[in-house]
Amino acid sequence: MRAFWLTLIFPLVSAVTVPILLSAGDAPSLSGNLISLSIEQDRWLDWVGNVTRNSFFFNTLDNLVALTGDSPTIRIGADSEDHTNFNPSVQFVQQVFPPPTTTVPYPEATNIVAGPGFYQGAQFLPPGTGVTWGVNFGGKNLTAVFLETQAIIKAFASPALKNADITLDFLELGNEADLYRNNGLRPSSYTVSQYTAEWITFATNMTRTANLAGSDTKIWGGAFAGSSHTKTDFSPQGIFANGILNSEPGKFIDTISQHHYSGSFCTGSGGLLQDLMTKSTIRSNLSSFIPDIQATQDQNLDYVFGETNSYSCHGAPGVSNTAGAALWTLDYALFASQLGISKVFFHEGIGYKYNLIQPATLTRSTLDGSTLATPLKPHVQPQYYAAIIAAEAIGDSGETQALELNINNTRIAGYAFYESGSLKRAVFINSLAFLSGATTRTSTHLDLTFSGTGTKPTSFSVKRLVIGHADDVSGLTWGGQTYETSDARVGGTATSETGTVAAGIDIPATQAVLITFK
Ligand SMILES: *[C@@H]1O[C@H](CO)[C@@H](O)[C@H](O)[C@H]1NC(C)=O
Ligand SMILES: *[C@@H]1O[C@H](CO)[C@@H](O)[C@H](O)[C@H]1NC(C)=O
Ligand SMILES: *[C@@H]1O[C@H](CO)[C@@H](O)[C@H](O)[C@H]1NC(C)=O
Ligand SMILES: *[C@@H]1O[C@H](CO)[C@@H](O)[C@H](O)[C@H]1NC(C)=O
Ligand SMILES: *[C@@H]1O[C@H](CO)[C@@H](O)[C@H](O)[C@H]1NC(C)=O
Repeated sequence: MRAFWLTLIFPLVSAVTVPILLSAGDAPSLSGNLISLSIEQDRWLDWVGNVTRNSFFFNTLDNLVALTGDSPTIRIGADSEDHTNFNPSVQFVQQVFPPPTTTVPYPEATNIVAGPGFYQGAQFLPPGTGVTWGVNFGGKNLTAVFLETQAIIKAFASPALKNADITLDFLELGNEADLYRNNGLRPSSYTVSQYTAEWITFATNMTRTANLAGSDTKIWGGAFAGSSHTKTDFSPQGIFANGILNSEPGKFIDTISQHHYSGSFCTGSGGLLQDLMTKSTIRSNLSSFIPDIQATQDQNLDYVFGETNSYSCHGAPGVSNTAGAALWTLDYALFASQLGISKVFFHEGIGYKYNLIQPATLTRSTLDGSTLATPLKPHVQPQYYAAIIAAEAIGDSGETQALELNINNTRIAGYAFYESGSLKRAVFINSLAFLSGATTRTSTHLDLTFSGTGTKPTSFSVKRLVIGHADDVSGLTWGGQTYETSDARVGGTATSETGTVAAGIDIPATQAVLITFK
């Protein structure tokens, strides 16, 4: 009945066959926290809480824990990581912010002095959360490295964190050191070989101070803004060629972190939103890292995107903060998994346009910095739905594998999900941007075919991410329900829709669908 209704509303323009394998084979394994978060260090306590827990932020994470059993991993660092000092007599944090601008309404602090309570704030994360903490390397100040490392270790050794199993999984030393030669933190002639030698000196102190030899904490290597993909400039290959892994601290590197943004646009447009969402640009952005992933795996190391999001300037207005960006996030993270990127940390800062979550009350517009007539309460942004959908698709089996479906259509992406090797679910994304002002919304019919070993399903249940327009900034529903609530807990009544393999399924432009096979 429902499928019939959809066909009436949305003119079908095409039909495409979707071949699905019944068994996973050696498809990549996906952890429940494939979508994780990178948080700008300066306003970390505004996220998590200082004296008491920020329950809005906690709930956004706890919703995901409920779906996957895994809390999103949290990296605390980025630009402000390289501007942080430690002072034991500061209770929480003191910071200096430059004035807001139209393009950057919520700039990073230029100077942060953290005290013990800054690190202790991690106690307010959901139990079981793994943390990566970034230490200042940009300042080239051994005392800062030493004192910050001591303070981080002390916080994670405290009963509050230990009892909640909140663990320091990784330390990171320096953010985007490949840009130091451009931003004045090092001479303009700074090379990857100079970097590697300096990093080893500072990381030796960090490693010994943290007693990594006697703990489970490891180090993220790299954390570069880009990659040359060569052995002679900044890249994983470049630091390996310079011997980083043979050094005393390098032996604790067990993951290479790469940063990536799809571009740098400080103003937005419908065309830019479509570019972001487009299947082929998502694939070309990620595929350029294949040589680096291979070089990393050749060293038996894990590879993550430790900081990523749509566009720099903390996002392009009308693009990064929209429903279309939610579809981008979902396809981007799932496609990353297919290339061997084990986790994707979406970068967040208070008031940034590309956030999944706005955990604090905002008094300035995130889009142009103007003063808001009414302060904006904590809320989730459209991209948050992508984290929910990925979490539901991956589920809580702890052994989910996923395989991208080979769909011969420039707008339809799809992934099959397996548990214990058997087909369970599939996600489809129609990334054709249906923008406000457009009149005809097309829909694509998917015919499902099966091959391989296993029982062919005959029917399925359906959940849809229903979006008014690609450039909407709110009002999305997932299976009829909303996360746009005052406490970030799901609200509204779930809709139920079922379908049959014989009939296939229709997906309108600018929508994501999760089907669960019966
Ligand atoms: C703790 O955080 C709240 C809310 O962000 C803020 O109003 C308060 O000043 C902070 N307290 C301290 C001691 O920094
Ligand atoms: C070095 O770091 C320490 C501790 O963070 C700080 O007190 C000191 O001011 C820093 N020195 C410089 C030159 O920034
Ligand atoms: C690390 O550097 C600090 C500051 O120079 C120094 O006091 C400390 O002894 C060093 N620690 C180690 C283990 O090298
Ligand atoms: C990355 O995606 C953007 C669109 O968001 C596109 O403009 C850019 O060319 C892509 N970059 C690569 C390397 O494919
Ligand atoms: C893919 O689709 C295009 C356009 O619809 C068609 O021309 C082409 O033959 C298809 N390729 C395959 C392998 O089915």
